[in-house]
Amino acid sequence: MKKFERSNNMLDRTRQIIPVCSQTFSKGYRYFPVGASPLFLRSGHGCKVVDLDQNVYIDYILGLGPITLGYRYDAVDDAIYEQLASNGIVFSQPSDIEYQLAKLLTDIIPGCEMARFFKTGTEACAASIRIARAFTRRDKILSYGYHGWDSNFAVVTERKKGIPLSIGDNTLTFEYNNIDSVKKAFDENHDQIACVIMEPVIGTVPENDFLHNIQDLCKKNSAVLIFDEVVTGFRWSLGGAGEYFGITPDISVFGKGMGNGMPINAVCGRSDIMNEFEDVMVSSTFGGECLSIAAALATIREMKKKNTIAHCWAMGKRLRAGLEKVGMRTQGYDCRPALILPDDQKWKSLLLERLIEHGVMVHLGGLINICYSHGEREIDDTIKAFGAALTEIKNGATLAGKIAYPSFRRV
Ligand SMILES: Cc1ncc(COP(=O)(O)O)c(C=O)c1O
Repeated sequence: MKKFERSNNMLDRTRQIIPVCSQTFSKGYRYFPVGASPLFLRSGHGCKVVDLDQNVYIDYILGLGPITLGYRYDAVDDAIYEQLASNGIVFSQPSDIEYQLAKLLTDIIPGCEMARFFKTGTEACAASIRIARAFTRRDKILSYGYHGWDSNFAVVTERKKGIPLSIGDNTLTFEYNNIDSVKKAFDENHDQIACVIMEPVIGTVPENDFLHNIQDLCKKNSAVLIFDEVVTGFRWSLGGAGEYFGITPDISVFGKGMGNGMPINAVCGRSDIMNEFEDVMVSSTFGGECLSIAAALATIREMKKKNTIAHCWAMGKRLRAGLEKVGMRTQGYDCRPALILPDDQKWKSLLLERLIEHGVMVHLGGLINICYSHGEREIDDTIKAFGAALTEIKNGATLAGKIAYPSFRRV
């Protein structure tokens, strides 16, 4: 039996001085079965992480997405050290390395004529709707998916506290794969919708040309189409899910995965819209921070050189085939499969607990992140762990820790 004494101890101490005990909701202790689960991690290498009690796990959360090559990946870490040792972190004027990254993005992302950098996905998504509003001179946005904690987006989640409700008047939502819900929003808000901002794909597969139909509706209504590729970018393909599905949005936002863990996001797109940055109020002291930019350059070059994205698709395919064999159903795409889990928090917590015991860490949201460092051996060990966990549950294993909270939900 694994022990979690140090994690439990740290939870007691951290609770006193860090609200929620985490800077990121979904990493917090509530989403894990407290008492029978690690709650803090100390280090990572390749696709594995080590907790405070020295237990080791094959990790499928990967920092909630940013690790695309692997923890402590040499080519990226060397680029960070080199930038730090030879040049520095931030300067009083832009650095030429910003140009190099923008140039690389314009080369690989369809429709990216210009790029602008940010630290977080929230910031980048907020900036993208601001330029869309400036460009169209309209106020409303039509949103699908998660785009961070900015009021414009959070107002349509279950966490509305602290947000002036009037902001909600300008944020409309629609249902995935329901083109009528998009049409209805455009019809009821004629000439008022500045943009559609959406994650191109989450767990389910787009049906009936859904994405192309949305693009047509945007064109017809002179609205800007923004793909939030913070998660899908550098996972579906080098040019994002837009490239994968053959759709070039007007603007796309890239982030997690771009710097293999370093904090960097980018708004990319059509130069006539991007040039709104000349006039709108968007500015960030750390937007041009050079260690992250060096990391992004090294990460993307490594992805190109080694075709790492194809490797992740292949590992995802192998994992899904194996999971199906041991009785676990999955959906979505091989590069980021989703486990189909029952709507039963107790059962899900038990599954997680058993997987942790067998050295595998997944998130109860069910989405599986795969990185270049996941090899066949780790995938096969993961399949075995799932098989063992499911058998133990069938044989009557009971929950030792607390029931984990349901994943953060949009409403
Ligand atoms: C699709 C998407 N967009 C935006 C964000 C916000 O990014 P950040 O947490 O870096 O602000 C996230 C974060 O999970 C995300 O998944």
